[in-house]
Amino acid sequence: MTAAEFVPEHADLATLRRAARDCRGCELYHDATQTVFGEGPPDARVVMIGEQPGDREDLDGHPFVGPSGRLLDRALEEAGLDRETVYLTNAVKHFKFTERGKRRIHQRPGRTEIVACAPWLTAELDDIRPELVVCLGAVAAQAVLGSDFRVTRMRGQVVAADDYRAVATVHPSAVLRDPDRERAYRGFLADLRVVARELRP
Ligand code: URA
Ligand code: SF4
Repeated sequence: MTAAEFVPEHADLATLRRAARDCRGCELYHDATQTVFGEGPPDARVVMIGEQPGDREDLDGHPFVGPSGRLLDRALEEAGLDRETVYLTNAVKHFKFTERGKRRIHQRPGRTEIVACAPWLTAELDDIRPELVVCLGAVAAQAVLGSDFRVTRMRGQVVAADDYRAVATVHPSAVLRDPDRERAYRGFLADLRVVARELRP
């Protein structure tokens, strides 16, 4: 099973978003609250791809509205990038978690789910045709640049992908988890400055 049979052909973003609500391309729809589709201008020059919605995003229905989103907002602003001009999405569009008491603990999506959900991401990229794609973390990099791509080695470098250039960096949640958060944040910001420089006219 993949999302392919749920993705309408030649559809605009609004149509895709509506169709994605009913996706059953993998098992994750079953326990999650809702599909969290990408958001942003349809003519965005840059698409940023996270991993999957977190707890807050799952409840809210919007990408990057929780703690990772706040960190991303801060870094975007410091790098001189306007969030309103960026299309933000995720490699996997339902929240994967395990329940521990009342808490829902994030689980990293596996290869099956990344592959199953890829048709939505492909459709978004085909519609938007961005100049630059930014992969936030290894899951996004795997979805866009292949499973051989190593974020640790290649982060902050501009690479040529299908019809666009791509830059990979760490996931904002990795910055939040890092024992040396300030250092991790500086590294993340440096990568986003590369993005800002690439977008300069
Ligand atoms: N982490 C992600 O990768 N995406 C979100 O939307 C939120 C947190
Ligand atoms: Fe469909 Fe992706 Fe949700 Fe799986 S995670 S049900 S493929 S939208």
